[in-house]
Amino acid sequence: MSQGARDRHPRRHQPAAQPEAGLHQAGSDIDDLDDEWGDEAGPPAQRDSLTDVPGGVRLQKVLAAAGIGSRRHCEELIGAGRVEVDGEVVRRYGARVDPQSQVIRVDGRRIPAREDLVYLALNKPAGVLTTMSDSRGRPTMADLLGDITERLFHVGRLDYDTEGLMLLMNDGELAHRLAHPRFGVPKTYLAEVSGPVPRDLGRELISGITLEDGVASADKFRVVERLGNRALVEVTLHEGRKHVVKRMLAAAGHPVNRLVRTHVGPISLGSLRPGSTRRLSVKEVGDLYAAVGM
Ligand code: URA
Repeated sequence: MSQGARDRHPRRHQPAAQPEAGLHQAGSDIDDLDDEWGDEAGPPAQRDSLTDVPGGVRLQKVLAAAGIGSRRHCEELIGAGRVEVDGEVVRRYGARVDPQSQVIRVDGRRIPAREDLVYLALNKPAGVLTTMSDSRGRPTMADLLGDITERLFHVGRLDYDTEGLMLLMNDGELAHRLAHPRFGVPKTYLAEVSGPVPRDLGRELISGITLEDGVASADKFRVVERLGNRALVEVTLHEGRKHVVKRMLAAAGHPVNRLVRTHVGPISLGSLRPGSTRRLSVKEVGDLYAAVGM
């Protein structure tokens, strides 16, 4: 972030423990001669501190770098009034913004404007700890990240033997909100339980099960498949307590044999293979921001 930009946004929050983005981004862009639209393209009345950030990056370049589309497409979005910077629609092609600190939205959805931010989905296999290191040498998520070298926060935890979706990112504020109970982000699990399951199991889980540390309730429940003396059930809840799904189902008389997390908020595990990671799309990151009011 340039000093000029920093001065103009003195109160803007900078999440802790994130790599400083280099000035090179903004500096190299000043000589951006391949841009078809000059700084003179917009009416002077629209010029203000929001979109004339000294050393800033052209708005269409920020959008294109975030994966919104080609620069031409991004220029069209700007011209159509679909792009907001810090809550204000910007139609000027010459706008220069600070992607490190300004909130940029397309059609109301926030985009990950900072190029240094990484957002990943991981399909954690059983037998892997949801930490980045282990003093006892057990496998951790760090072993699955290959050449990803950024320092990542993981959103919540899964048990050693639980499988499925973990979100990892170096966007500290988003990771914090996604994990915080105040934001109530729902998580969905597929559980193989001992059965057969009675018809009213869902009602029981939704109305609340008394556990040793208080009542826990599901938001949604359905039986996916009945398999004789076993069943596959899907439970959605916005609880983050330790072993909560296993404890709820065991207390209801259906111990869990296998547990897989399939969704965290708007993000789905989909067909991601166990042990693999994928980068979240711009839309998915925007949906995560929306889920926690960012
Ligand atoms: N509930 C559990 O019981 N285990 C997990 O890993 C996650 C939720």
